[in-house]
Amino acid sequence: MLVRLLYASRAAAPMNASIVDSIMEQSRKNNPAQGITGILCFSDDLFLQVLEGGRDEVCELFNTIVRDDRHLNVRILSFEEIPERRFGSWTMGQVNLAKVNSSLLLKYAEKAVLDPFTCSGRASLALLDELIATASVVNRGS
Ligand SMILES: Cc1cc2nc3c(=O)[nH]c(=O)nc-3n(C[C@H](O)[C@H](O)[C@H](O)COP(=O)(O)O)c2cc1C
Repeated sequence: MLVRLLYASRAAAPMNASIVDSIMEQSRKNNPAQGITGILCFSDDLFLQVLEGGRDEVCELFNTIVRDDRHLNVRILSFEEIPERRFGSWTMGQVNLAKVNSSLLLKYAEKAVLDPFTCSGRASLALLDELIATASVVNRGS
């Protein structure tokens, strides 16, 4: 059975390339064997990640991620059983939210700054769908 989990978290330290690179490297190493796909979005101070795969595998990975001290305030925004993957092309795609067109952010939020902690999980997922459609995802995870 497939599930999709979306969560947001606050970066424990200001974001930099080496933090993102090391997470992407771990994702590249671990996710294929577990059948996990998804996208990791980041900005200066937050992460937004969608994980898709089998329920056991997604829950186990999420349990690991929650304990990671590179972030805090981990909040589940959405968890659902799904008939098919939406983010299946990415072992773990990455999106730098600072580079996303502000009109796209405005479509789903009150201001042109993504705040997944205050907007609905559905709005964040809709934004992720648009990021795929507009090819904003960098496919360094596969
Ligand atoms: C925001 C965030 C997202 C992460 N995403 C993944 C992921 O998709 N896959 C993964 O294996 N580890 C991910 N990690 C890292 C895990 O928390 C953990 O450090 C890693 O799985 C340990 O793998 P290792 O034992 O092979 O080093 C993420 C960490 C953070 C902070």
